Amino acid sequence: MTKDFGNLPAGGSHSGEAVGIDDLSVYVPGLFLPLSGEFSLDRGIDPGKLIKGIGIERMAVPDAHEDAATMAANSLLDLMQRCDLAPEDIAKIYVGTESAVDEAKAIGTYVIGMLEKVYGTGSFQDCSTVEFKSACIGTTLALESLSYWAAAEEEGRVGIVIASDVAKYPLRSSGEYTQGAGSVALLVKKHPRLAALEQIYGCFTRDENDFFRPMGCTTATVNGKHSNQCYLEAIQGAFDSFAGKAARSGAITPKSEECVTDFIDHFLFHIPYPRMVEYASAAIFRHDWLGCRKGQDVELEIGKEPQSLDYEDLELYQAAKADYARRFSKSRHFQEAYLAKVADTAALSRVVGNIYTGSIYLGLASLLELQKIRAGERLCFGAYGSGCSALVFSAIVQPEAETVPSRGIVKRLEERRQISLQEYERLHEGLMEKSLVEPSAEFALASIDHQGYRHYEYVC
Ligand code: COA
Repeated sequence: MTKDFGNLPAGGSHSGEAVGIDDLSVYVPGLFLPLSGEFSLDRGIDPGKLIKGIGIERMAVPDAHEDAATMAANSLLDLMQRCDLAPEDIAKIYVGTESAVDEAKAIGTYVIGMLEKVYGTGSFQDCSTVEFKSACIGTTLALESLSYWAAAEEEGRVGIVIASDVAKYPLRSSGEYTQGAGSVALLVKKHPRLAALEQIYGCFTRDENDFFRPMGCTTATVNGKHSNQCYLEAIQGAFDSFAGKAARSGAITPKSEECVTDFIDHFLFHIPYPRMVEYASAAIFRHDWLGCRKGQDVELEIGKEPQSLDYEDLELYQAAKADYARRFSKSRHFQEAYLAKVADTAALSRVVGNIYTGSIYLGLASLLELQKIRAGERLCFGAYGSGCSALVFSAIVQPEAETVPSRGIVKRLEERRQISLQEYERLHEGLMEKSLVEPSAEFALASIDHQGYRHYEYVC
């Protein structure tokens, strides 16, 4: 039987104590491939399309000794060191991934094995771990689940949510320039310093074939344009569900002429590629502004939205709607809202690429790195996972958020090594036997034995 946590006060625990994200760490491989130059030339793609149309300048590429497990262990070790956490402080490690290294064994057990090489054998024995697979929404479902556990935790222990993925599509496919790799580890506890969850979750789920990876395949099958459409419809559905729940709980109650989006300071959407957050926010704002003052102002600027009754031909109606959506995304009101509330979240994704389930939290890291969030602001997260599912939820920035030490992520990204197209292709196809950069002060895959068991080590 599931426990009912309904009607929680803002912050999430029955005692009224805030629960949420206390801190986060980001790990990104030390290699990158620039999308302009050699890559765009060889693939015959205008670099303007990749840098402006898609929004990615550099893709993170895992070296031969890296996989989703090493990246997860590296982000967790950094988080533990940042937050002065001992293994016994951690009760649960939930890992969101769709790049699992084993069909049965939880990736978290490999992560614990690696961490114990630093903290001592058996040091994590009183910590449980489970893997959440739900394409790019897995980590967010893990966070939702762990936040309820944290609200009920009475012994002062904390939970960790880790996102770790290698985003991989076939060479020369249209998904190729939306790859990347990385991990984000989140510390989830009571009295969080960064953001307290309001425990309002708007959900949308339906069966779709937009993106999937049949058993045994190393790259995903993606119906690209369809996946964009599924993302937009699912986020829209989840946002409506969120808005209804936020109104019923009394958290967001717009008066006449006000919209739900007026009550949100930053939107953090799933970022498969930076342009997607522009499409997502245009869909959300356009829908939310209907019937509000802002919607009327947009109508004055670009005219009324096409109505089906005015069209006898469905194709003409759809073309008119697509044209209206394009004009909306160029309207002054939308551009102002996008720049103020959305654009900054994509800063790190531009130079890392897609990290699947962690990309939404890379968005949070972008805001922190750019020092864009202030105490009392409301964050609205819009997670999407192909297949498909969306979850929209909110959190309030806490007074201590601005005092949490910087992570220096941009500096670390600048220190990465640029690789050639040939090196990238060999790594992509698993043909590189030795690492391009010898591992140093990090976890590394040492070998895979005859049974398929993976052996990891910590390289000083
Ligand atoms: N200069 C500037 N912009 C250009 C350009 C150029 N030379 N050429 C094209 N563009 C623009 C297009 O106009 C378009 O922008 P718009 O939507 O504002 O019109 C944008 O670049 C993308 O072009 P498009 O032709 O739609 O891209 P694509 O066919 O390469 O497909 C994806 C893009 C994302 C569908 C594809 O990379 C993919 O399948 N990725 C994997 C799946 C994925 O990430 N899905 C997202 C939801 S989870």
